[in-house]
Amino acid sequence: MINKRETWASKMGFILAGAGSAIGLGNIWRFPTTAGQNGGAAFIVIYLFSVVFICLCVMIAELALGRNTQKNPVGAYNSIAPKTAWKYFGVLGILTGWGIASFYSVVAGWTLAYIFKTATGFFSGMNSEQISESFTTFVSNPISSISLHLIFMSLTMAILFGGVKKGIEKWSKILMPLLLSILFLLVFRSVSLPGAKEGFEFLFKPDWTAITGRSVIAAVGQAFFSLSLGMGTMIVYGSYLSKEENLISSATWVAFLDTFIALMAGLAIFPALFAFGLEPTIGAGLIFVVLPNIFNEMFLGVLFGTGFFILLGIAGLTSLISIVEVPVAFFIDEFKWTRKKSVTIAGIGAFIAGIPAALSLGALDSLTNLISIEGRNYGFLDFMNLIFGQYSLMIGSLGVALFAGWKWGKSKIIKEIKTGFVNFSYGALYIFFIKFIAPFSLLFLLIYLFLNPNAFA
Ligand code: TRP
Repeated sequence: MINKRETWASKMGFILAGAGSAIGLGNIWRFPTTAGQNGGAAFIVIYLFSVVFICLCVMIAELALGRNTQKNPVGAYNSIAPKTAWKYFGVLGILTGWGIASFYSVVAGWTLAYIFKTATGFFSGMNSEQISESFTTFVSNPISSISLHLIFMSLTMAILFGGVKKGIEKWSKILMPLLLSILFLLVFRSVSLPGAKEGFEFLFKPDWTAITGRSVIAAVGQAFFSLSLGMGTMIVYGSYLSKEENLISSATWVAFLDTFIALMAGLAIFPALFAFGLEPTIGAGLIFVVLPNIFNEMFLGVLFGTGFFILLGIAGLTSLISIVEVPVAFFIDEFKWTRKKSVTIAGIGAFIAGIPAALSLGALDSLTNLISIEGRNYGFLDFMNLIFGQYSLMIGSLGVALFAGWKWGKSKIIKEIKTGFVNFSYGALYIFFIKFIAPFSLLFLLIYLFLNPNAFA
């Protein structure tokens, strides 16, 4: 019996589901955190460059590979180049999915607590120092960190049991526009605070002297993370994409929406951050400290604040779904497991892997101060974020670009693009990017990293 693969229900279906995957904690939590630690405006310029010149062509390649092979990452490499070592890039993707899911769920769990804290007026009347302290106390509690992580992972599994179409697409449709609306309100409040000016300078006036090899790598890595590239999410989502769909416009839409939301999040966070006298480099707690301050200063702040954390949680959910779906699709295709078994194993595996991350913000000292590089301490969560959320994605994207450009070959990839876009006439330009620009810039950065291990973190 031939089992027809599930596909998205409509043309907009993929754009919404793809944007649902891309838009998440990466835009609203990781982007401001990383930009804050790497100098602001100059980081953002490099980030935008990477999106346009490196990531977009990798996204198109992932979608094309997925739609062409109708497989998970390992299966995709295997069906085009059987019995070769290329499949290890796929295997890396599966492992990366598990690694990212583990800490992603921990942070997403925090948003659940912040829904209730905001709704019950917990932050009302607190100054920015008290809000910071309450974050530190909250994340250092092992019981709540692990329980919230468990709840979030269970929600993700519950949706994944239902499968792609029923589960993922439906949610993304309604909630993305709502998230954007509240984000706009936050931007208005943030930029009109007294003292917001310093935030604009931080965001828009590049200080090129602040740019180091490390910040370039952080910006490129952030672009891959935010666009859900480098571990096969877009291969898997592409495999659910119909042949009539235009890959170029779908990818461009997803990249545009994702980048727009990240920039809006930056505009909501940094002017307020400086207005409240906080430091941009504070790390993982950044938005959880800045946002409650904005809500305190806002008309109907409790209402908008609660709404915002609900939507952020949901945006995180639609992204985490797409991360865990990668190992799930792998188990279903390659091991012939049922969806139920695959989701159970992938979900429980990611939950267990996330426990040390959940304990690494104060609960356990050895995990909280795991390594110290150039005077800055990194905990287990930061470490996972760096290894899986950054380096692994860069290596995975290098793999996709090399594979599409050099192994799969020009005519095949162009043919796949033309399947849903008959008049596509920029084939030569696309090949130039996927064959040379994307892989060589990634190779250059990875070699730099190898030669300068202290640029590692
Ligand atoms: N891009 C998502 C976010 O911004 C997270 C995500 C989903 C992801 N799928 C991914 C990150 C694949 C890297 C790779 O929150």
